[in-house]
Amino acid sequence: MPSIAGCHSLLHGLPRRIPVLISGAVIFIMVLSYLLLSMGPCMVWGVCYHGYQSAYSFDADLAHHPTWMGDIPDEVPITSLSIPGTHDTMTYTIGSEGLQCQNWNLSMQLDAGLRYFDIRARLRDDELQIYHGNGYTGYSFTNVLVGMFEFLDANPSETIIMRLKQEGNPIGSSNTISFEDSFNRYRQDDPVTTAGANDHLYIYNRTAPLPTLGELRSKIFILQQFPDNNGPYGLLWEGNQMVLEDLWIIPDIYHLADKWTAIRNALELAATSKHDNSVLYLAHVSASIGVLPIEAAAGPLNRTVSGMNDMTGQWVEDFELVEDATRTGIVILDFPGRRLIDAILRWNQPLQRKVRRSTWSRSAQLSKYW
Ligand SMILES: *[C@@H]1O[C@H](CO)[C@@H](O)[C@H](O)[C@H]1NC(C)=O
Ligand SMILES: *[C@@H]1O[C@H](CO)[C@@H](O)[C@H](O)[C@H]1NC(C)=O
Ligand SMILES: *[C@@H]1O[C@H](CO)[C@@H](O)[C@H](O)[C@H]1NC(C)=O
Repeated sequence: MPSIAGCHSLLHGLPRRIPVLISGAVIFIMVLSYLLLSMGPCMVWGVCYHGYQSAYSFDADLAHHPTWMGDIPDEVPITSLSIPGTHDTMTYTIGSEGLQCQNWNLSMQLDAGLRYFDIRARLRDDELQIYHGNGYTGYSFTNVLVGMFEFLDANPSETIIMRLKQEGNPIGSSNTISFEDSFNRYRQDDPVTTAGANDHLYIYNRTAPLPTLGELRSKIFILQQFPDNNGPYGLLWEGNQMVLEDLWIIPDIYHLADKWTAIRNALELAATSKHDNSVLYLAHVSASIGVLPIEAAAGPLNRTVSGMNDMTGQWVEDFELVEDATRTGIVILDFPGRRLIDAILRWNQPLQRKVRRSTWSRSAQLSKYW
């Protein structure tokens, strides 16, 4: 409190008392504002995490949409939906700023309404363990499957889209089987996961049309990013049934401008392309390498540029009522917040039964969705 001490010592000159009091108050307010702005932008502007502040990040725990797919008719193809999801889903306790991409666990993410998950596994002692690069998340593929099965048992109207990626080479020296064989053990020969896998894994052979929501309810649809001899098990990652935006290497915060251009182009393409169920649209809002994932999402601590979650959230809100913008596709996020999740989900409203019956009544126009 140096300003108050200074003020007291000046008070000895009585005739100057009033101007001194005023300037003391001014100094006090200036110091207080400086402290608030430098130490706690969160107190002034809202949602904050580790000092990073962003209106569209971090508070996914305040979003609550455990059954949003229940309002959408069975015949809608999965490719016609607007789906929020997470990148490097399981990194919420990884303990390294460079590798952490999330701040809530899987069950919280599911409850918030997120339905796409990025699951990166490495083969370690014949088991699949969840990594981000060389960083171990502390979680196993069993943890992931059990969490997803529990959610789908409790909310059978819902669908989960799981990217399953082989994250680098096997680890350890006691591996005797392949990544694919290990994956199949969880499906066919594991006391903890096999029953749930029978109920909930949807095996897609890539020749049938991309599935509808009705076919996928209570199921996990796999986007397969690992080699197989006896598959396939799901849609091929980066195959011709997906349109993917994945500009993720951003050398510094000033190149986030290029990242935003890539995101906006991807969202515009998904929003305006025909609904012919030929491809799944996916856009990564996340980025890293020259920037921390949290800086890319929420903007840097010094707030010199906007974070990608804020840019994306504003775009999604600005275009949500535009007639010709019909879907966002899958939007893949680091550190998502309530406002961003809510905004993406609102794009599905024209597809929802109850909305269709009452306020919107544009069923004639709905044919453009499928
Ligand atoms: C996930 O996080 C929430 C909130 O912190 C907690 O209540 C819940 O028990 C966690 N779930 C699991 C499976 O750890
Ligand atoms: C793929 O699945 C579809 C529908 O389930 C089926 O009709 C088709 O015969 C399958 N194709 C192959 C090559 O297994
Ligand atoms: C703001 O922070 C970023 C990332 O921490 C840094 O690269 C940049 O130089 C900083 N800008 C200013 C003007 O301090």
